[in-house]
Amino acid sequence: MTKFEWTDELKVWLIDSTDDELQEFVNQHGLKYESVSRFRRKLRGKNPKAKKSLVEFLTSGKRDFEIEEYFEAPVDEVLAVIPEGYELFKTKDEHINTVYVLIPEIPVDYTLKEKVWSFRWQADGQPYLWVKIPDEVGGKKIKIVPIADLHDGNIACNMEKFREWVNWIASRDDVFAFINGDLLENSQGDSNKGVSVYEQTTRPRGQIDEMVHILAPIAHKILWAIPGNHEDRSRKADYDPLEWMCDKLHIPYSYYPIYVDILWKGFVFDFFCQHGNTGSLTKGGKINAATRPQKFQEHVMFTVMAHVHDATTNTTVRICRDRRNFKLVEKKQYVLICPAFLNYFGSYASKQLYEPGAQGTINCELFANGDYHLNS
Ligand SMILES: [Fe+2]
Repeated sequence: MTKFEWTDELKVWLIDSTDDELQEFVNQHGLKYESVSRFRRKLRGKNPKAKKSLVEFLTSGKRDFEIEEYFEAPVDEVLAVIPEGYELFKTKDEHINTVYVLIPEIPVDYTLKEKVWSFRWQADGQPYLWVKIPDEVGGKKIKIVPIADLHDGNIACNMEKFREWVNWIASRDDVFAFINGDLLENSQGDSNKGVSVYEQTTRPRGQIDEMVHILAPIAHKILWAIPGNHEDRSRKADYDPLEWMCDKLHIPYSYYPIYVDILWKGFVFDFFCQHGNTGSLTKGGKINAATRPQKFQEHVMFTVMAHVHDATTNTTVRICRDRRNFKLVEKKQYVLICPAFLNYFGSYASKQLYEPGAQGTINCELFANGDYHLNS
């Protein structure tokens, strides 16, 4: 085998190369990634002045002072020219500091329809959202469909079933939706002992691209979105792929569990939604975890959790004082655990011998007379 010729020009290129560019280069020339990467480290060591390119530096979120220190220039100047094929995304890190990250561009070959509804966030930045749906929308009821645990990119993802739901939502004027986390598999090198990263059908950036295009026809009907633990995997890079998707698709996004009031036909229908993080394998344990937020909240019509890939509901009743009419009233509260869109065989669940999870969705139904129900 002939030794690869590293010209001076190639060495300069190598010092500035990104990991993706390096991967492409070694594939093209039949070289070993590890040894070329080692050579690049060596070259960079010899050139203390050699800096990472902007693309490489901003693969994880950076604050403005970090950018200024690294590039020794004002942040506006550094970010004035964005490398071709990338978009600058401004987001918040876990300490609510503004950070910047560069993300490969998604081709804008989709169109978004106009929303018939409007929304408003709580003014101090609390995760509290008002959604106003015009009274003309829907007849006697409207349906609000939770979308959760699709795990796009997972080999067991049932995309066919999911597309059926998307088509159904798109075809109905009285149906709206919200995202309750784990839309993407988003496996990183350190997920599940590093194994699951190899079990994805698409790499994370491909999952984002695919989901943006699949959701675009119903983006105008998605009332809000919260991430799950799989989207959270990118938090180590100070970035949530779901937040970026929501930015593209104009969907209200909350990193935190969300409190929502839907205003329709003169009534307020309230929701509390978390993705959930329980590892419980029993129905009781899952329901307990999903019901727990009711302990510290006032009466809430729909308390929603996902994560456990189960279709389970629970109804509790709260005695409330109706002071206007000087009366005690029994008010029902629904707890809803969202099903997933994952097949069993080939999945992590089948390997771990968990029970097969449920698929699809359970709908929240809001009635024109103020009543509310769950409907699977
Ligand atoms: Fe999850």
